[in-house]
Amino acid sequence: MWYSSIIETVGNTPLVKLQTVNKGQPGTLLAKVEYFNPGHSVKDRIALKMIEDAEKSGKLKPGGTIIEGTSGNTGMGLALVAAVKGYKCVFTTTDKQSMEKVNLLRALGCEVQICPTNVEPDDPRSYYSVAKRLSEEIPNSFYPDQYNNLSNKQSHYETTGPEIWEQTEGKVTHFVAGIGTGGTISGAAQFLKEKNPDITIIGVDAVGSIFKSYFETGEFDKRHIAPYLTEGIGEDIIPANVDFELIDEIIQCPDREAFVTTRKLARREGLFVGGSCGSAVWGAQQYIKKNPLKPDDVVVILLPDSGTRYVSKFYSDEWMRTNGFMDEEERPELEEVITLRGMGERDLITVDRNETLEKAIQQMNRHNISQLPVISADKVVGSLTETRILTLLMESSDARNRKVGDVMDEPFPIVAADLKVDQISRMLSKGLAAVMVRLEDGRHTIVTRSDLIYALAATSDGAWE
Ligand SMILES: Cc1ncc(COP(=O)(O)O)c(C=O)c1O
Repeated sequence: MWYSSIIETVGNTPLVKLQTVNKGQPGTLLAKVEYFNPGHSVKDRIALKMIEDAEKSGKLKPGGTIIEGTSGNTGMGLALVAAVKGYKCVFTTTDKQSMEKVNLLRALGCEVQICPTNVEPDDPRSYYSVAKRLSEEIPNSFYPDQYNNLSNKQSHYETTGPEIWEQTEGKVTHFVAGIGTGGTISGAAQFLKEKNPDITIIGVDAVGSIFKSYFETGEFDKRHIAPYLTEGIGEDIIPANVDFELIDEIIQCPDREAFVTTRKLARREGLFVGGSCGSAVWGAQQYIKKNPLKPDDVVVILLPDSGTRYVSKFYSDEWMRTNGFMDEEERPELEEVITLRGMGERDLITVDRNETLEKAIQQMNRHNISQLPVISADKVVGSLTETRILTLLMESSDARNRKVGDVMDEPFPIVAADLKVDQISRMLSKGLAAVMVRLEDGRHTIVTRSDLIYALAATSDGAWE
């Protein structure tokens, strides 16, 4: 079996279960991995559809030139389709985009013009304006205009949406996607909501983009627009391809969280993806924190592109440091330590204050632990550590018959699960044996020095940072 050209391999990308992002929590998180497309991004889908529709309508004629303002991925898709079909390509892009993307397009024989990022969209120097002008100047040219060409959205209605529906056998309950032109989210959402109107559609935007405030207020307030580094999502215009009616919630992701999460996806999940993929996963995590999933929930998160185009950017430690994105805040939160250790799923091991020390020692040996919270009528009233027990046994061999309540120490402090490991490490290095962590469901677990050591070692080994 073979394909008649590379074009036929566009779409039908796999859904891959995320192993660690939501580990131990109810619900299933599935990534729609778009780098399996021949141009390594979701944009191959729209490139093909925009060209085919233009051929049908006569806007694109044999030997024509395709002109587009693109951050790279759409250019790549258009370039592949153009190569097979015999069209020329001229692209405009911004100086924010990685040189890898620009060089890739040039490798495919395209002309690329780089324009300034921080100018108004209607400024004649903007990459939108330059693309438009070129399309008027160059004869027999076609300007796909991915922002306002509804073939974009339609391609996702015809391919991305149905694929997600079929691959999940109709079980999808949430769809999460970044919003750039809006084609992906609007097209896929339209299909999915037609199948099941209860599916929740979550859009992920970049901090500095207009979408979230426009979605929430209906006003285009320029004060929300600011520069940011995440490529592919967010805009300073409202493209015709965004259908806000289909979106239930928009979450804005800061650059740091986008890049830190993307690096985790590579190291923890083996998903070597682009920066807006981190935004999408981080957005899903924020949504789930506020709206806990039910066991049968199936969340599909679309990951638009590959990491190969960003090796010299956020995959570089130096770049991360230069941009102030890599400091101690990249260390894990307690919550991640708990997930890594699988502690959220286990019941807390305790000893009653009326038990003997002998019983407490047996309990610790059986579970191979070095400290115990002491309880009375389900309330934590104290703590017992092996250091304390050793001191007591050295003082008197009878100590083993004493009541726990008579020899226990103060209870371990209770901390919130979103504290950074650094803060806990400082507490534990000052002589405290452990902290109790309050879990979202109201239960408690215990975190010790050895848990932190395990988590930090696993992190440097490539686990969630
Ligand atoms: C890397 C990347 N992520 C996300 C998107 C957003 O997808 P859409 O334009 O369909 O909204 C784009 C679009 O340019 C992109 O290039």
